[in-house]
Amino acid sequence: MNNIKTVSVKASGSYDITIGTGVLKNVGEMLNKIKKPCRAVIVTDSNVDELYTDTVMESLIKAGYPADKYVFPAGETSKCAGTFIDILEFLASEKITRSDLLVALGGGVVGDITGFAASCYLRGIDFVQIPTTLLAAVDSSVGGKTAIDLRAGKNLAGAFYQPIAVICDTDTFKTLPEKEVACGYAEVIKYGILFEKAFCDKLMQDENDINEIVEKCVIFKRDVVEKDEFDNGERKLLNLGHTAAHGIEKVSAYSLTHGQAVAVGTVIATKIAENFGICEKGTYKEVENMLTKYNLPIKYDITPEQLCDAALSDKKRGGGKLTLVLPEKIGKCILYDVNVEDLKEIFSQAL
Ligand code: NAD
Ligand code: GLY
Repeated sequence: MNNIKTVSVKASGSYDITIGTGVLKNVGEMLNKIKKPCRAVIVTDSNVDELYTDTVMESLIKAGYPADKYVFPAGETSKCAGTFIDILEFLASEKITRSDLLVALGGGVVGDITGFAASCYLRGIDFVQIPTTLLAAVDSSVGGKTAIDLRAGKNLAGAFYQPIAVICDTDTFKTLPEKEVACGYAEVIKYGILFEKAFCDKLMQDENDINEIVEKCVIFKRDVVEKDEFDNGERKLLNLGHTAAHGIEKVSAYSLTHGQAVAVGTVIATKIAENFGICEKGTYKEVENMLTKYNLPIKYDITPEQLCDAALSDKKRGGGKLTLVLPEKIGKCILYDVNVEDLKEIFSQAL
């Protein structure tokens, strides 16, 4: 194991996030330090199963955790009620008990649905997050938001439920398709714009250590989650770029990934901030340069009406106001309430 970094999270559940290269084969050994031997069920998707289940299963068995696996087809459409119930039925048919363990091995889809299953099965059993996408490593595996999608929209059923550990082997990113790597960088850049100009400058350098990038992002997120685990205030900052992204994803019929839509949404949010005089004119150019460096789009053909429709159907809206996340400068953002009736004009000036 090389270059191991550990970040501790203190929330309703406390846990360590371990980041390093080659840690996948030591998952069992690491679990020995926090949970006595029990049965384990690896939940994963069809792509990740072919690549990494054997390594994790071998490590679990060696460390005294007899392991089974549950595999579902890769993709967001699997993050649904049908797969969720199938996982629970599998656990029950295997007579998994409350003292056993679920292991979420995969990207955000696997992490979200497995975490939600863990929160519900027998009213809650332990689970571990093993993120294998950059996005899951820097965002979805940390902070305890778990969910499935409903027909009416994304993430509409879920729970706040913290894992007992997050184990991130950054070697797994080597098999990610380029598009998925870019998707993760949209969230990485988001943290830079939210919290630290120097981190943005570092991202613009030619060479960066991926373990350091993941560690830095996880610390940014940890600090927010520890202050606002249940998303009543500061955690909303993490939605930078996401208000417009929801509309862009929908209008593109999901041909744009979430990360690509967040990238365009971040540029739109920066232009809105410029138009309000919240940040300096030209800030959006800096944002565009970062996104372009990581092969992310900065524009999408969408109307203000389409953006409004999606923003106003978002579950995070309250009353006649919508909270936008807007940069004051690179490295600092604010929550800014706008009147719903002004939204179309606000978007039209930023497109
Ligand atoms: P994903 O889980 O669908 O993974 C993307 C693709 O990469 C899939 O096809 C997957 O099979 C494949 N894959 C995963 N790891 C791989 C690897 N190492 N090598 C090769 N292929 C691999 O998508 P994602 O981008 O990881 O996550 C998106 C999901 O995360 C969405 O459902 C989103 O709502 C959720 N999310 C949740 C939170 C949260 O806080 N819970 C935050 C952000 C996003
Ligand atoms: N990804 C947003 C959050 O965890 O709050």
